[in-house]
Amino acid sequence: MTTISTRHALITGGACGIGKLVARRMAAMGAEVTLWDLDAAALDATVAELQASGGRAHGHVCDVSDREAVADVAARVLEEAGPVDILMNNAGVVSGAYLLDLSDEQIERTFKVNVMSMYWTTRAFLPAMIERRCGHIVTVASAAGLIGTRKETDYAASKFAAVGFNESLRMELRLLAPGVKTTVFCPYYIDTGMFAGVRTRFPLLLPILKQDKAADRIVRAVQMNRAQVLMPWMVRTLPAMRLLPVPAFDALADFFGVNACMDDFVGRGAPDA
Ligand SMILES: NC(=O)c1ccc[n+]([C@@H]2O[C@H](COP(=O)([O-])OP(=O)(O)OC[C@H]3O[C@@H](n4cnc5c(N)ncnc54)[C@H](OP(=O)(O)O)[C@@H]3O)[C@@H](O)[C@H]2O)c1
Repeated sequence: MTTISTRHALITGGACGIGKLVARRMAAMGAEVTLWDLDAAALDATVAELQASGGRAHGHVCDVSDREAVADVAARVLEEAGPVDILMNNAGVVSGAYLLDLSDEQIERTFKVNVMSMYWTTRAFLPAMIERRCGHIVTVASAAGLIGTRKETDYAASKFAAVGFNESLRMELRLLAPGVKTTVFCPYYIDTGMFAGVRTRFPLLLPILKQDKAADRIVRAVQMNRAQVLMPWMVRTLPAMRLLPVPAFDALADFFGVNACMDDFVGRGAPDA
């Protein structure tokens, strides 16, 4: 069991959405929280909110897709706030378009933010975790890291990469530093606004998840050293469904409405997202 109260947690994309909610919970438990985000105004507001509730919080504007920026800001964090105990690789973007409608820039951005950033942040903070033989790295992937759907050729591929990154890292850490734990988070859609417009055919089986519930599960997973969180429970059946022949697997995905989910996607482009 990991005690959060005495830890220093760094959350990328921590100014809003899931990152912010996890930050709230960890700060309320007594952890020192460092947030990175692109949006300075949202970051300042979140840090001010956490401090006003008695939390220890810092914020840094950092584009996690920029390798040099990550190295610079990470060095500042290590100097000013000390080693990071819990690293939550959470920053993410989605395009939500068919392959041929994506711009080259959108495809590159998805991979830089959702995949490459994890290399830069983890390589910055892991050495101190290994040295101290403790720490926790949370990879915020997605159910899209376990199943591809229409309008997600870039996003799903990036999340499959995130799942692979986490698994290989876990194997390395079992050998090099068993005290450093990992958690991969693979949720279905969550009501943060990132995926505004998505629909689900069977809300009881595949609900659009509540962001508070998702944040609770992440914090609990860190406390309990859980290696993976797949939610809702239907997502856990995916590996078994993959034993089916591909046409049957595809038909089942269609039946559950998984491929139609993104048809009305607007994402952060929505007026209220
Ligand atoms: N929402 C869902 O349905 C869902 C489902 C499965 C997995 N996830 C994953 O969960 C994570 C959090 O998503 P969310 O729903 O909380 O979305 P969100 O509310 O949009 O939060 C994402 C955060 O990442 C930040 N960010 C984006 N690009 C960045 C960059 N280059 N450098 C630093 N920060 C950057 C955003 O900042 P700005 O606002 O300034 O751009 C934002 O604060 C993502 O990795 C996402 O893929 C989400």
